[in-house]
Amino acid sequence: MSAPSQPFLSDIKTLRERARQHIEAGAVTPGYAGDLKTVIKLLNEAFATEIVCTLRYRRHYYMASGPNYESVAEEFLEHAKEEQEHADKIAERIVQLNGEPNFNPEGLTSRSHAEYVEGTTLVDMIKEDLVAERIAIDSYREMIHFIGDKDTTTKRLLEWILSVEEEHADDLVGLLAGRS
Ligand SMILES: [Fe+2]
Ligand SMILES: [Fe+2]
Repeated sequence: MSAPSQPFLSDIKTLRERARQHIEAGAVTPGYAGDLKTVIKLLNEAFATEIVCTLRYRRHYYMASGPNYESVAEEFLEHAKEEQEHADKIAERIVQLNGEPNFNPEGLTSRSHAEYVEGTTLVDMIKEDLVAERIAIDSYREMIHFIGDKDTTTKRLLEWILSVEEEHADDLVGLLAGRS
C-alpha cells in the first residue's frame, strides 16, 4: 500500500465540494480554523483603538505649540494618517470575515485599548502618545499570539500594524530625547 503523496492536504475533490457549500460566506470557507466570533470582536477592539489614536494624534497636531513645535506636529500628523490607514485595513478585514466594523461613536473609548488623553504641554502629548503606542504594541502582540496560524491573513495584517506601532513608539522616544 503506497502512502498518499500529500497526507496533510485535502484532496481536490473535497476542496471543490467544500468551496461550493455556503458560497455566500465569501472568503470564509469551511476550512477557516479560527474562532470567527472572537476574531471579529478582537478586530473591532483594535479598530476602536486605531480610531481613538487617530483622533488623539489629530488633536495633538492642531494643539502642538512651543519652541520648535513644527517638526513634532508633523510627526503627530503622520502618525494620525497611519493610524487611520490601520483602521481602514482592519475594517476591510472585518467585512471579509463577514463581520461589521463598529463605527458607533458611543462607547468608542471603552472599546479602545488605548486612551484618549489630550495633554497640555508638547512633552505631555508625546508621552501620552507613547503610552498609547505601548498599549497598542502589547495588545497586537497578544492578538497575534491568540490567532496564531489559524487565520494567517489576519495574522499578517496584525503583524504589519504591530511593526508600524513599534516604529511610532521609537519615533516618540526620539522626540522626547530630542533626536529629531
Ligand atoms: Fe495604528
Ligand atoms: Fe501608532
